[in-house]
Parts: sequence; structure tokens; C-alpha cells
Amino acid sequence: MRIDVLTIFPDYLAPVREALLGKAIDRGRISVGVHDLRDWTHDVHRSVDDSPYGGGPGMVMKPSVWGEALDSVCADAVEQPRLVVPTPAGVTFDQPTARRWSGEQHLVFACGRYEGIDQRVIDDAARRMPVEEVSIGDYVLVGGEVAALTMIEAVVRLLPGVLGNPASAEQDSFSDGLLEGPCYTRPETWRGLSVPEVLRSGDHAAVSRWQRDRALERTVSRRPDLIDALAPEQLDDRDRAL
Ligand code: ADE
Repeated sequence: MRIDVLTIFPDYLAPVREALLGKAIDRGRISVGVHDLRDWTHDVHRSVDDSPYGGGPGMVMKPSVWGEALDSVCADAVEQPRLVVPTPAGVTFDQPTARRWSGEQHLVFACGRYEGIDQRVIDDAARRMPVEEVSIGDYVLVGGEVAALTMIEAVVRLLPGVLGNPASAEQDSFSDGLLEGPCYTRPETWRGLSVPEVLRSGDHAAVSRWQRDRALERTVSRRPDLIDALAPEQLDDRDRAL
């Protein structure tokens, strides 16, 4: 998978070279290009923003700079990439979106700052490529960089060969529509707190049932909206009794 990120703060994306993402790069599983938007400015101040039509606070990112930058980054693409524009005004990013994007050849993230990017940049790009304006949650960040990093990590860990143990992705919170329950490791007792007996029993059926019950309990108390969204066949008789 190819991933390009356009930003006025390329250093913000430094963590893509670390840990799991860095390994995916080293192994050739992904290639990442981080581009400084100001490279496509033509004035001495390298300005990327201007005051908004219609008035109001803040500044808007100029279409001319973004247009050239996107043309350039997409020019050598084999097929048109999917353009992702992180914005608090977007559709909420979730695990199914991460899974869908993990099947793409090429993702381009356009990170806006200030009040956002001139809408014509998005409308123009949409004439040539799929475009999604996406939010990572109901709060406002100072720019799209941290959101892009979040989404990149969620997508890349789903690529085949990236996670050491592929079962980790299958057992994720959300993969069966529920939050994952608690987990434990050695020692058996720590500061007077013991690992639940059943996890040490070796009875695999009992362990699975216990984990399922804790996942259900946790989801009911923390995310009742996820329970409401479950299809009837996602619950068994024992679940319903809980
Ligand atoms: N930019 C600023 N806030 C954001 C958010 N919540 N999600 C995505 N991009 C953003």
C-alpha cells in the first residue's frame, strides 16, 4: 500500500517511522510519503491561507496551493488514489472504514489547518478520485495531522503480515461488535489482586464463555449503543440471558 500525507507540519508525521508502522515500511509492506504543502507555494512568504469569503474568524487554506500539491502527488499514481480529508465536519471514522481502506492500493491524506481547506479543492478532486471527509471523533483538534496518523495506524495494522499474530486483529474490540473484556498476565496474585480462577483452569470452553460474558458486561455499561447495533444472530441464548 502507498500512503501520502500532505501537511504544513511534516514533522508531526514523524511517528509513522516508529514501531509497527516503521516495521511495515522496513518490510516493504507500505511506502509512505510525507510532503510539505509549502513546497507548492510561489510567494516569498510561502503562504497557504487567506481570509474567508463571507467573513468570520480564522483563515481558510488556499485552493491554488492544494490543487497543485494534489495534482503533483497523484500524478505518478498507477490508479487514482482514495483522498482522505480529516475534518471535524466529516463522517465518523470507525473499524469498518479502516477495514475497507485496508484494501486500497493508495491513500492520500490532505491535512488541513486553520478553519479548513477551500471546499473547491475537495469538489475538484472528487471529479477524478474517491474522496472522503472523515472525523476521528466529536472533538476539535488543531489540524488533521494527528487524525491522519490515527487513521493510518488503524488501517496499516490490518494489512496482511503487519501484525505479528493475525489473531490479534480478529479478536479486536469491535470485530464481533463488542468491546474486549479485561486481560491478565503473570504473576497470579499482584498487590493482593488475583487473576480470575477460570482463566487458570485450562477449561477452554469455560474460558471462552467467561471472556464473552465480560465483553458483554463491559459493552452494556460503557457502550450501550453497540449493543443496540448488534444483529440478532450476533447474540446466542446465553448472551440474551445475561
Ligand atoms: N481536524 C480537527 N479536528 C478533527 C477531528 N476531530 N477529526 C479529524 N480531523 C480533525
